[in-house]
Amino acid sequence: MSLNINEIRKDFPILSTSIYNKPLVYFDNGATTQKPRCVVEAIENAYYQVNANVHRGVHTLSQRATDLMEESRETIKDFINAPHSREVIFTKGTTESMNLVAHSFCQQYCNEGDEIIVTAMEHHANIVPWQLQEQIRGVKLRVAPINDKGELLIDELEKLITPKTKLISVAHVSNVLGTINPIEKIIEIAHSHDIPVLIDAAQSVQHLPIDVQKLDCDFLVFSMHKVYGPTGIGILYGKEKYLNEMPPYQGGGEMIGHVSFAKTTFNELPFKFEAGTPNYIDIIGSGEALKYIKKIGLDSIKSYEDELLRYCTDELLKIDNLHIYGTVENKCSVISFLVKGIHHYDMGMMLDKMGIAVRTGHHCAQPLMDRFEIEGTVRASFAFYNTIEEVDIFISGVKRIVSMF
Ligand code: ALA
Repeated sequence: MSLNINEIRKDFPILSTSIYNKPLVYFDNGATTQKPRCVVEAIENAYYQVNANVHRGVHTLSQRATDLMEESRETIKDFINAPHSREVIFTKGTTESMNLVAHSFCQQYCNEGDEIIVTAMEHHANIVPWQLQEQIRGVKLRVAPINDKGELLIDELEKLITPKTKLISVAHVSNVLGTINPIEKIIEIAHSHDIPVLIDAAQSVQHLPIDVQKLDCDFLVFSMHKVYGPTGIGILYGKEKYLNEMPPYQGGGEMIGHVSFAKTTFNELPFKFEAGTPNYIDIIGSGEALKYIKKIGLDSIKSYEDELLRYCTDELLKIDNLHIYGTVENKCSVISFLVKGIHHYDMGMMLDKMGIAVRTGHHCAQPLMDRFEIEGTVRASFAFYNTIEEVDIFISGVKRIVSMF
């Protein structure tokens, strides 16, 4: 099915904004996506019509809010095809989901000297939480290398596996390179050694269909604000067997069974990991976002975004002295580049003056920058509401800046 982009764009009022009197070209979707009306309306309706604290009240409003929140959990469960909604935990974002797993998984399963494998293309959120565990309990981080195209060296990753390896934690899609990692293969290798796998789906779940049962991944994390949903909501999917064994991450209301000064017991899943009042309003908005995506269809989204990516890549490569970082065949929705002699910040600021929003800098992936011996890149990242015309505006903007230098 081809997408009716003109109709789709009407669902996103912000896309009609002007920046410096130029129509906005929003190519910073890897950082956050824009929100369709239905998401904002669901949030507004939740505040105006059902606002009451969830899971606590016997009163009608509280029950309505609880029902809507739990309906969202079902929608999210279905979106990733998780077996049970109790395996879907609400957090603040990918980063908190990652910290939760690092803390609770390591506490349950890791001793001093045990190892976690990541890759050289990880976001800081899949590095620093493990380094904190390095300090707390002596867990060691092992890093699988990549080649110059930005492709994971899977044989090298396999060689890192030892009897001390406790978990492999990898990005599905690199936020800088756009590389789609062969997670099916990684999971197969890991499971043949009885090692669980965490998939960081922050840059993939909005572009590629994900079925956690088919993948058989053990954990999967992502943020709703990158999937056209509200800010402040993260998802942690985890297999029940791990989530049941892992200790809570935070203590407080909601996550307990019974509290006394002598002994406290914990609630069942998913509530054991959801201490305090959850952000139920934005959780309700999150369900709407996924329903919206589902209606458009991830297969259509993927093939349309691939078209944008191919066209933009081909046009950028025609520009002299322009180097693209991340040149594997199998990539999605992200182009990182540098033009010789032009600092990425200068390029980003000048594009902004033309109404074009891109991200510049290290993209929270400094070890990856070190791997390529650069400080940062300019990154254009696409969503299905972007157009070929916008790519043309972006390309002529880059050309103009190049000609000025
Ligand atoms: N992690 C987000 C990005 O890649 C913010 O831009």
